[in-house]
Amino acid sequence: MKSTADLVSMKNKDRIVMVTAYDYPSAKLAEEAEADIILVGDSLGMVVLGYESPVQVTLDDMIHHAKAARRGAANTFIIADMPFGSHHTGVNEGIKNGIKLYQDSNANMLKLEGADAIEVITGLVKAGVPVCGHLGLTPQHFGITGFKMQAGEKAQADQLIEDAKALEAAGASMMVLEAIPMDLAKKVTESVNIPTIGIGAGIHTDGQVLVYHDLLQYGSDRLPKFVKPYADLNSVVKEGLTNYRNEVKSRLFPAEETTYKKRVFE
Ligand code: KIV
Ligand code: NA
Repeated sequence: MKSTADLVSMKNKDRIVMVTAYDYPSAKLAEEAEADIILVGDSLGMVVLGYESPVQVTLDDMIHHAKAARRGAANTFIIADMPFGSHHTGVNEGIKNGIKLYQDSNANMLKLEGADAIEVITGLVKAGVPVCGHLGLTPQHFGITGFKMQAGEKAQADQLIEDAKALEAAGASMMVLEAIPMDLAKKVTESVNIPTIGIGAGIHTDGQVLVYHDLLQYGSDRLPKFVKPYADLNSVVKEGLTNYRNEVKSRLFPAEETTYKKRVFE
């Protein structure tokens, strides 16, 4: 498995490939596809639990899914998201929740949204927990920001660059940049010595991340502008399930080869 240091040293050398996964089979396939990092994102709330927003995701949800992902990908670096509200009720409470998630899930790193997480990040890093920051669109704040591109104005863009530097100074090992203009993402990437992982942030970040169910079109139907679909699992799954249904109805399944025929009655 790559270490935090291995991943940090990929900056300026090799693109970092990150993909979300939330359970045993998806993590196993991500590992087989040689993703550098698996993100157990709080996007799991919407894409696999059917929650309305990231706000419903709990610390226990994150632990449950991160453990399943770990079982599927024993040899891949795993980052787990700190969920909504888990580090906003006090720095000590945030550090405590982070330590619980890190310890219980056996993830390799935690991700915290927003520049206001810096005190908690400092505490976690002091305790020995590697941390990934997350700037730009931070979906846990959607009630205030909406789900749209952020930092489109100079003042906000300048602030984001300062925030990125502050994250690095606080000891973050990398950061996600979500839904920001590509020239800003480039500037941020050049302004810090830790890797930037983009989603909807253009080509200049040190790595890319996409949501598993978006890039494979599995359960999701409306894709954001920045997602490229690499497969269409929706049709594959629908076709398989419909064929199964039809063969049961028409008594084509089970057939001879799927039946035990040892005689136990005379
Ligand atoms: O929860 C998530 O999947 C994320 C990525 C989109 C970066 O935070
Ligand atoms: Na997230």
